[in-house]
Amino acid sequence: MDKAQIIQKINKLKKEKNAIVLAHTYQNIEIDEVADFSGDSLYLSRQAAAANADIIVFAGVYFMAETAKILSPDKTVLLPNLSAGCAMADKINAAQLREFKKNYPSLPVVCYVNSTAEVKAESDICCTSANALNVVKSLNAKEVLFVPDKHLGAYAQSQIEGVKVITYPGFCPVHHAITVDDIKDKKLLYPDAKVMVHPECPDAVTQTADFVGSTTAIIKAVKQSKAQEFIIVTEKGVVQRLERDCPDKKFVLINEKAVCETMKLLHLEDILRSLENNEYEIKVDEKIAARALKSIDRMISINA
Ligand code: 13P
Ligand code: SF4
Repeated sequence: MDKAQIIQKINKLKKEKNAIVLAHTYQNIEIDEVADFSGDSLYLSRQAAAANADIIVFAGVYFMAETAKILSPDKTVLLPNLSAGCAMADKINAAQLREFKKNYPSLPVVCYVNSTAEVKAESDICCTSANALNVVKSLNAKEVLFVPDKHLGAYAQSQIEGVKVITYPGFCPVHHAITVDDIKDKKLLYPDAKVMVHPECPDAVTQTADFVGSTTAIIKAVKQSKAQEFIIVTEKGVVQRLERDCPDKKFVLINEKAVCETMKLLHLEDILRSLENNEYEIKVDEKIAARALKSIDRMISINA
């Protein structure tokens, strides 16, 4: 079967089964050709909650499909490859979070959406990279705990006056590996380029940025900018989408290692197989889902 035939089959099955495909910005770009919605974690969570579909095929990683299932428990949520995990989400489990909380008994816990359902269930409020600052501010607390991403937590701390953000030592290996020297090297080659950074990067890297934001926010900022050259300091999928959407501008990926391997596991064939065989259905324990939903709903109700 060639690509056009696969796309045709997927579209036919989507109609027959009343299914939609949600695709994260880091997916292989071919997935966008069958996606009903493409974007960052916050945007996709909102679409999952609002979807008028019987089936959601999540082209992303496990915690995203799990979050969609928690938001839409009556829908069938499919993740086409169960090996598509997130190394950041794996850095903390519920027992580890309970231990961490014991050291700071009365502080509210913010958990990055890149976490398991059981960690969300142990937290007070969830956040994504798009709304972390507003979520932390919404708590009106002098001190908050932030899990699992120490870099996003540090970024929030640097941007909000009067709040101490106590972070768990987790991180995303893809963003954690990016250094200030990488930025300097690219700046030597492209001195006029704007530096667009995802807040999962280390603090020293984020400080060099002209713009800091989620994947969708970076894409939007580039489209609105009058600048012609951009150094993209996040995963490769963002560069591919910008090259597709803005052919007149120049994009430089911070380094060739900025690739999330688990995000790249899916291809069009996997979406087709998933729809044909209802593979693989994501289930979340009802009690955990109910508690996790409180954290996610509290985040979604913050309009930012
Ligand atoms: P956003 O989708 O919030 O930009 O985050 C990127 C990410 O790492 C998702 O796993
Ligand atoms: Fe997880 Fe990092 Fe991959 Fe995002 S880029 S899914 S945080 S491992």
